[in-house]
Amino acid sequence: MKKIIHTALTLFCLAPFAAGAQDSAMETGERIYLARCEYCHGEGPQKGGTMMLHRRYGESKPAVLHQRIDLLPEYIRNVVRTNTPGMTPVRITEVNEEELDALVAFLTRNNPD
Ligand code: HEC
Repeated sequence: MKKIIHTALTLFCLAPFAAGAQDSAMETGERIYLARCEYCHGEGPQKGGTMMLHRRYGESKPAVLHQRIDLLPEYIRNVVRTNTPGMTPVRITEVNEEELDALVAFLTRNNPD
């Protein structure tokens, strides 16, 4: 009996941390996006990425990157890590793999399943 109570209490206490871990991956992704991507891909004038993507897609897709719901994880990884016109590659020493995962999770958060 004591053991059951102990297990139940442990689960009860750890659950918020498990949920918190997920949130913080999303928060990490958003933080990296705001620090490294938003100044080119955010809303407003003078954002090179937004301007280029608007020119490329017109009204058919949002020009602001974090409003997209069609970006595939592998595609984002490739664009971030390799040379894309207008965008310098982000090295592993700047954004590590775990942070890139978080960034991808943030940018694909509204994708349909
Ligand atoms: C110096 C400005 C700049 C920064 C910083 C930047 N980008 Fe870009 N990005 C661009 C431009 C410009 C394009 C459009 C290239 C084109 O049209 O060929 C682009 C295109 C993209 C695309 C392709 C979108 C599509 O529809 O094909 C993705 C994905 C992307 N960027 C992700 C990111 C992420 C994630 C970051 C942050 C790690 C980032 N970018 C930082 C300028 C930038």
